Amino acid sequence: MVHDIGKLRLGYYLYGRNKDALEIEEIKYVRMHPAIGYDILNNYGYEDVIAETVYHHHENYDGTGYPGNLKGDSIPVGARILRTCDVFAALSSKRLYRPAYDIETAIRLMIDEVKNFDMEIFLAFLRVSNSENFDSIRKFIQDINNKKTLNSTVTFMNLNI
Ligand SMILES: [Fe+2]
Repeated sequence: MVHDIGKLRLGYYLYGRNKDALEIEEIKYVRMHPAIGYDILNNYGYEDVIAETVYHHHENYDGTGYPGNLKGDSIPVGARILRTCDVFAALSSKRLYRPAYDIETAIRLMIDEVKNFDMEIFLAFLRVSNSENFDSIRKFIQDINNKKTLNSTVTFMNLNI
């Protein structure tokens, strides 16, 4: 619920934008959101483990993520779990520049980029996504994506940058 809270301070750059791709300068700015989120959560007294998870939620398992370019098990386990779930949420949500991918396509795209994920966590995610427990999530995703308009905050928080 709070992993992208740092984006709330990026509204000037993101709110109402209607471009296909972010400019390089914007990407650099938006990539500050994990650190901004970390500061916000620290100031509100969240436990360190939560703030650290948010700080590292864009690290890739192969070391190509940010902000720390951490690799493998040096990435906090919560951040590895969040990375997997966040990418799935982004792919299965509609964007200003593309419709939502269906769940099967989203998972196929994740398999193409599996180097980004902790394999053990990714396999656990696949088990969950194929279980009955996932049916309510599947329905939620379909309902959200079938709405004619999205709350700007929802759109804003779901940018996977
Ligand atoms: Fe994020």
